[in-house]
Amino acid sequence: MSFQKPKGTQDFLPGTVEKWQYIEEKARELCRRFRYSEVRTPIFEHTELFVRGVGETTDVVEKEMYTFVDKGDRSISLRPEGTAGVVRAYAENKLYGEPDVTKLFYIGPMFRYERPQAGRYRQFHQFGIEAFGSADPRLDAEVIALGYLFYKELGLKNISVDVNSVGTPEIRAAFREKLLGFLAPMKEELCKDCQSRMDRNPLRVLDCKQDQAKFEGAPALLDSLDEDCRSHFDIVLRSLDQMGIPYHVNPKLVRGLDYYTHTAFEFKAEGIGAIDTIGGGGRYNGLVGDIGGQDQPGVGFGLGMERLVLILEHQKVDIPDRQQLDVYVIALGEAAEQEAASLLYRLREQGLAADKDYQERKMKAQMKSADRFRSRFVAILGEDELAKGEIILKNMADGSQQSIPLAEAAETAARLCKQG
Ligand code: HAM
Repeated sequence: MSFQKPKGTQDFLPGTVEKWQYIEEKARELCRRFRYSEVRTPIFEHTELFVRGVGETTDVVEKEMYTFVDKGDRSISLRPEGTAGVVRAYAENKLYGEPDVTKLFYIGPMFRYERPQAGRYRQFHQFGIEAFGSADPRLDAEVIALGYLFYKELGLKNISVDVNSVGTPEIRAAFREKLLGFLAPMKEELCKDCQSRMDRNPLRVLDCKQDQAKFEGAPALLDSLDEDCRSHFDIVLRSLDQMGIPYHVNPKLVRGLDYYTHTAFEFKAEGIGAIDTIGGGGRYNGLVGDIGGQDQPGVGFGLGMERLVLILEHQKVDIPDRQQLDVYVIALGEAAEQEAASLLYRLREQGLAADKDYQERKMKAQMKSADRFRSRFVAILGEDELAKGEIILKNMADGSQQSIPLAEAAETAARLCKQG
């Protein structure tokens, strides 16, 4: 019997996984620069958390959650996104007691039962950040800046940032009526999705790609903002201007999750078929209170890692290959093999990436392995060398070689590797 992975999931094998590690390291390093600390929350939560947090009428909650009843008769869901769990952890652990703005980040798998296609999976990964405890619009700009810098430092080209303000729930409720007034006469002409969205979540109708042409002259949420919302949005934009982050105000941008207030934004890049959104986020004042904590404003983003990797590949961005070895040890003969095992251990003790053959292959095959691993040095230990208590250390870049006393081999190799 043979097994296949479940639909919409992926195996990340050596050769690819190094790219992921590199991207994750970049995320961690950038978070350190912006003072975001890592948080790890459960991969499953009580279903009710997502119903309340993400919104009952969102596609994510209505159609896409992996929900099951556990043996204790509780309804549990695999997390479809990171924000609700982090907000729960923030409230449950009373992190709002901290004097400073709480800045958290996470990297991990999320689960949505969606129709898989390029860039869309049922298990996917997000790098996300969430900042709590301040309603300052400059914090919204900081969140956008961190995402932008992340993409930029990875070498991604042509990233665009779409920004909008979705106001407050009160403003949205009034706008909803206005929008329904505009949409009602054309309801029959709209696609099925739009028709059902009109009943459940009318703001998302404007998001529809298929019916876009019909929405010419539709009322814009941006025009319905009150003075507070307008001024919040203006400061976000001014801060982005001052940081030199290019953006595009997109009045039609409404995110698929219900919790946003004020700023909503998306990062876009071309390169994976119909999908162009590689990350998104926004402010969510009110969510902490809704989930049961002391009310605190929050803002954050979630960036899709699979989409990022696909676009980096599409744009042929070079990601450093960390598979490279420092030293490949070649031993010839039983006695040399024995000595090589301890040399290898000492090389690794010195902090070098080193390996040897374990299949008794000929010298030529071992040299090929050294090439395959792009080893910087090859340490050759034959019977002659062993008799003299030496090894030959060959520099693979220029072909030069030198004999080194076996007892000093590890230290010397480490010194040479550090010299570059
Ligand atoms: P989201 O827009 O639902 O937002 O997802 C963020 C990103 O996750 C998307 O832009 C996309 O790159 C990736 N993504 C979503 N679904 C899939 C999928 N099925 N396959 C591959 N990638 C996917 C959120 O999740 C919010 N929690 C973001 C946030 C954080 N807002 C505030 N804080």
